[in-house]
Amino acid sequence: MADNILEVSGINTFIGQFHILEGVSVSVPRGSITVLLGRNGAGKTTTLKSIMGITPPRTGTIMFEGKSLVGRRPYTIAKMGIGYVPEHRAIFKALSVRENLEIAELKHGDLERKLDFIFELFPDLKRLYGLPGGKLSGGQQQMLAVARALVPDNRLLLIDEPSEGLAPVIIEQLMHAIRVLAEKTTVLLVEQNFHMASKLADRYTVIDEGRDVHTGIMADLVKDRALIQRYLGVA
Ligand SMILES: Nc1ncnc2c1ncn2[C@@H]1O[C@H](COP(=O)(O)OP(=O)(O)O)[C@@H](O)[C@H]1O
Ligand SMILES: [Mg+2]
Repeated sequence: MADNILEVSGINTFIGQFHILEGVSVSVPRGSITVLLGRNGAGKTTTLKSIMGITPPRTGTIMFEGKSLVGRRPYTIAKMGIGYVPEHRAIFKALSVRENLEIAELKHGDLERKLDFIFELFPDLKRLYGLPGGKLSGGQQQMLAVARALVPDNRLLLIDEPSEGLAPVIIEQLMHAIRVLAEKTTVLLVEQNFHMASKLADRYTVIDEGRDVHTGIMADLVKDRALIQRYLGVA
């Protein structure tokens, strides 16, 4: 469809000899927040890694703004305008907040142009700018991880489980930040926290045992208790 910024169609991804994704399809409308839901081990992270070319699919297609991503290197995919925030807050703990942001630059001047926006979104990072990443709280590390993806001009952000292990008040701050981001860019989110997912996302795709089993509008899913219970195990 013309207004989908990302179109993942029938991808099969293997890790070693294991067939992890068995024909996963996900559509992400431009300007939306789309969430991948599903139990632990369902294949959500592998879907994001497949898009980024970290675990490239063996078959199937991935189109970003009409261009194929399959066969391209992760670095090239990032340069095309996709920001990736991996799970577990992957920041450099020995580097300062500033250095973490500097090495996220794809071209000189990216950070300078974005710094005001990043500080507005995450005021803590301004205060902690010179501090090593390892000294930050879990929530602040997650903010830094998201901020890194904002340094280049990305048109699509892939964010893997940002709320993992964070206190509710921090989750609220992150939700606010993601909403602000979604006004300028498109977001594909992985989230186990159904409360957060349901409040943020416009659309969802449920992944179960390496397959996409359900796709639709979040407002409809929220009303479908049976489906939520079946695939997500939350009441
Ligand atoms: N490096 C790996 N080697 C073998 N199996 C893996 C590896 N990474 C992930 N898997 C398996 O792939 C499946 C999907 O994992 P993942 O995409 O991380 O799930 P999710 O993010 O939904 O929790 C799981 O069964 C997991 O055990
Ligand atoms: Mg995961």
